Amino acid sequence: MAYPNYHGGLKPQNFLRNSNWSVCLFVLIIAHLGPPVNGMEGIPAITPEQHIRCSQSLSAGEREYVEKRKQVVVESLNRLGINCTEDSVPHIALLASGGGQRAAVALMGSLHQMEQDGLLDPLLYLGGVSGSTWSMTSLYSDPCWSGNMEQAVSRLTGPGVQLEDSLDWLEERIKEEDFSLTDIWAVITSAGIMNQMDRRRLSDEASRNVTNPYPIYSAIEKHCYSHGPIEGKWFEITPHESGFTELGLFVKTSHLGSRFQAGELMEERPEMDMVRLQVPGQIDDAGDQYLHVYHILIKLTALIRANIRDPSRLAELDNLQRILEDEINQNRSSLLESKSPEERQQLFQIWTLELIRAVETWSESLEEGLFKKRVSWLTKHALPLILKWEWGMTRNFLYNYQDSAVPPCLHMKESFLLIDAGLLINVPYPPFLGDKRDIDLIIAPEYSAGNMFETLTLARDYAAKVKKPFPKIDDKVLEEKDWPKDCYVFEGKQKEPTIIFMPLFNRQNCKDAEEVSKKMEEYSTFQLPFTPDKIEFLLETAKANMKNNKDIILREVHKAVQRRESRRNSDISS
Ligand SMILES: *[C@@H]1O[C@H](CO)[C@@H](O)[C@H](O)[C@H]1NC(C)=O
Ligand SMILES: *[C@@H]1O[C@H](CO)[C@@H](O)[C@H](O)[C@H]1NC(C)=O
Ligand SMILES: *[C@@H]1O[C@H](CO)[C@@H](O)[C@H](O)[C@H]1NC(C)=O
Repeated sequence: MAYPNYHGGLKPQNFLRNSNWSVCLFVLIIAHLGPPVNGMEGIPAITPEQHIRCSQSLSAGEREYVEKRKQVVVESLNRLGINCTEDSVPHIALLASGGGQRAAVALMGSLHQMEQDGLLDPLLYLGGVSGSTWSMTSLYSDPCWSGNMEQAVSRLTGPGVQLEDSLDWLEERIKEEDFSLTDIWAVITSAGIMNQMDRRRLSDEASRNVTNPYPIYSAIEKHCYSHGPIEGKWFEITPHESGFTELGLFVKTSHLGSRFQAGELMEERPEMDMVRLQVPGQIDDAGDQYLHVYHILIKLTALIRANIRDPSRLAELDNLQRILEDEINQNRSSLLESKSPEERQQLFQIWTLELIRAVETWSESLEEGLFKKRVSWLTKHALPLILKWEWGMTRNFLYNYQDSAVPPCLHMKESFLLIDAGLLINVPYPPFLGDKRDIDLIIAPEYSAGNMFETLTLARDYAAKVKKPFPKIDDKVLEEKDWPKDCYVFEGKQKEPTIIFMPLFNRQNCKDAEEVSKKMEEYSTFQLPFTPDKIEFLLETAKANMKNNKDIILREVHKAVQRRESRRNSDISS
């Protein structure tokens, strides 16, 4: 497939690397949140007036969960032949990168293999961004997914969601005042790619037993991302609390979306749409937006296509896809030449409008009937939102909050926009650095596109800025970026976590750098949903990577236990 070649920033490769946008196929359709979590013993309750927690320590709910989960970890390590007592439980987190459907599928493969090798129960945490959070949310719809990976994996190639079910969901959402493009995107990714429309509540995860590792989702705040200090950027969401990782300012997740002023709860809004985390960010450029619109329209086509068998319908959908591709593949370089930036913006806006019109015209031309009715309903509601490019905002709980730590980018805003954290770092390291979660070992399967070690070096630089320990990365290793090994261990010596870094395409499964880049292209995020063959291949690739490196993982887990033990002994003796 050819791509428009307007200027460097618009080549798909750059587009994907810079914006990571299509890497953000993250779906969490959790609309309603239940009552706050009760039953935390030994921890002072938050009084009704104190809705905002300012602290660098774990929330009560997470602490309780983690303490209980450690029992599961101890038993699993003992089963693996690693001696471990409750006092020396290593804190192990699996951090999955973004990377669109490639990441979503590959993470399923990695976890499936870990289940088979008994390596899921040793995990205390599971963190994701972008594409990987999309499979996380799908997994956590099953309260016992850690023991049911087979079933989770088979859903990936199972029957798709009927268009009418997607439309039913949208119809409900349209009744809400905050209906936005976010909802359209939610359906496109959840139904169109994960084959699931999940209406569960996030609070389910807070009150669950400890069968699964504790999930942490990440986002970044758009305004602070562009204009603020580093402390205002990273946003973490757990089943119990959500807030700014570095500022240490949190609200109950059930209050994320409620209206606050100066720390006071002004209006309780029981609903929160976690789907907002996947909102693409940084689309100030009309050229970028043009490509984004194209991408959404192509995915919308895929959504409509799900489960359609009728050849004439399929032909109509093929036709639409061709129309869109023709639009975007026109060589318009000459039109853009010698134009001012303003004129270029205008041209892109016109072409964006043309894309939208093309879909409208197509939908009007369909044969009368139920199919046309459904498609028209969808386009009638979706196209104006796509054109306006309006994503759902979230009420800012720090609005006018009196605390000198709150940066101006947050203090003055009634609402904020949570966007794909992959824009900053495509692996969710920040919540897992430092004393708060005191992580010993990070297992990081890497599914990102672009420079193979970029997530690591970005995380290292981030850690340096916020003064948190991070293991040393030998510059020599970075030279292997085009044809990396299948597993690297960056060892933490004292307070740094050890990182096991596992590139998806590598020396084990690709004969040279060229094959790696060919595979990356074949499994790029800028395309229609993968075929079952592609899904199968990715699952097998990720599984093999995990399986081949089981011994390394076990060795590092063992070391992590020893490190805990020696730390405990020195604590006792000092
Ligand atoms: C585990 O600990 C027991 C008793 O402390 C000891 O006999 C055994 O050899 C240890 N096993 C391993 C694998 O270290
Ligand atoms: C955890 O909860 C699930 C779902 O409610 C249940 O099936 C499972 O038996 C529970 N496990 C434990 C150890 O209590
Ligand atoms: C697009 O057209 C220009 C001339 O109008 C030409 O120089 C350029 O090579 C073409 N680009 C592609 C990708 O076909």
